[in-house]
Amino acid sequence: MRIIVAAFEETLELGLQKPGQVVPMIPTFVFGWPTGQESGDYLALDLGGTNLRVCLVTLSGEGKFELTQTKYRLTEEQKQEDGSKLFDFCADCVAGFIRAHIGDKDGSIKEGQELALGFTFSYPCTQDRIDQGTLIRWTKGFGAPNVEGRDVAELFRNAMAKHHLPVTLTAIINDTTGALIASHYVNPRTKIGVIFGTGCNAAYMEKVEKIEKINHLNLLDEDPEAEIAINCEWGAFDSFVHQHLPRTKYDQIVDESSNKPGEQAFEKLIAGRYLGEIMRLVICDLIDEGVLFLGQNTYKIEIPYSFDTAFLSLMESDPTDELLTIIGLFTFFFGLETTLAERQFFRALSRLIGRRAARLSACGIAAIVSKKGYLDEGCAVAADGSLYSKYPGFADRVHEGLVDIFGVKGKNIVTHHAEDGSGVGSAIIAAMTKKRRDEQK
Ligand code: BG6
Ligand code: GLC
Repeated sequence: MRIIVAAFEETLELGLQKPGQVVPMIPTFVFGWPTGQESGDYLALDLGGTNLRVCLVTLSGEGKFELTQTKYRLTEEQKQEDGSKLFDFCADCVAGFIRAHIGDKDGSIKEGQELALGFTFSYPCTQDRIDQGTLIRWTKGFGAPNVEGRDVAELFRNAMAKHHLPVTLTAIINDTTGALIASHYVNPRTKIGVIFGTGCNAAYMEKVEKIEKINHLNLLDEDPEAEIAINCEWGAFDSFVHQHLPRTKYDQIVDESSNKPGEQAFEKLIAGRYLGEIMRLVICDLIDEGVLFLGQNTYKIEIPYSFDTAFLSLMESDPTDELLTIIGLFTFFFGLETTLAERQFFRALSRLIGRRAARLSACGIAAIVSKKGYLDEGCAVAADGSLYSKYPGFADRVHEGLVDIFGVKGKNIVTHHAEDGSGVGSAIIAAMTKKRRDEQK
């Protein structure tokens, strides 16, 4: 793990120095921490890997906020359809949300009110400004044509224009930046934001003087101490070269059969999109060897991605001696009967897959901690995503990993759940952006 951390740290450093690196270390144009006094009503649109959320966030200062939201599940088809359809869907959801809440019983959106919207678009985008973002590449299984290489802010504005609504897109942000800023708003010890969900990634605050690749922007002229949030896009660590992360043959199959072979090498060992598939591939291998389910019809479990990562969570948390949850799961979803020994084996396998994911995640966190020198004073790490919040023991395993890497001082690094980071984060960032603009005028 320490060897991985050292290579990771070098990769992060390289991404800050040179543009166009595999781990792109993207300056987000979010300058510095919030004061906690940000206030006002903001809209947030959150396009994650699984859901689309529209939120109305009311910041009342002193680190307090209220949130109203509507969630829509994205279908696999929507992820592959032409980009214009995806952005039309985003705009339709925002429009529907506004119409439903204008003058509603709480009077939360007032007639004629101009609303600033922060768009949490959680895919790697290079930015020249905070309200612009060019998609480098889709991740997390998305493949919608005609979006890569284009400004997603412009695509969204074009889609919104059809609705004639009083909404201004003020910021494009990443979910990790959202988690970082939202958590710092309530807990100033937060120094790193991480997402362990359908994908995995991290953001932290960096001194502008350390980011050689943006020297030409002369950002230090105004403030020599300036800091900027960096969206690492660390899921891409070890992509293409596969030099640092040990991979099994199952990891290689996941990679080669994905829509982006070679890419997101780190993410493919950790993220919720892939863990169930790794498990399924091991099971299918044992079926082929004639070890499992002899004489039973196995076609259902042979369907790619049919084994949800949530099944691993369920198997790990089965409290019964007979492992009744696992019986139910295999019978209901795959029509397969299991012996107790098989169920024990499946549970052990999910523990291995989940534990490896958590320990690799600890390596990523450790690389940032070590690079920034946070170990002695310690820091809080804001974490969100389904894997972190729903997978039993994930956080404990990350903490164990940090102690294995750093020794007892690893206990100084504590992760905590950053709920609604993206929604609240984008509202705070919209408020910070507005303040910065007003001050510059
Ligand atoms: C949600 C955040 O809570 O977690 C999203 O609002 C983020 O912005 C998501 O992308 C990540 O988790 P998952 O499991 O949905 O990928
Ligand atoms: C993927 C995306 C990244 C996002 C992460 C977590 O790695 O590329 O932008 O932060 O998933 O959602």
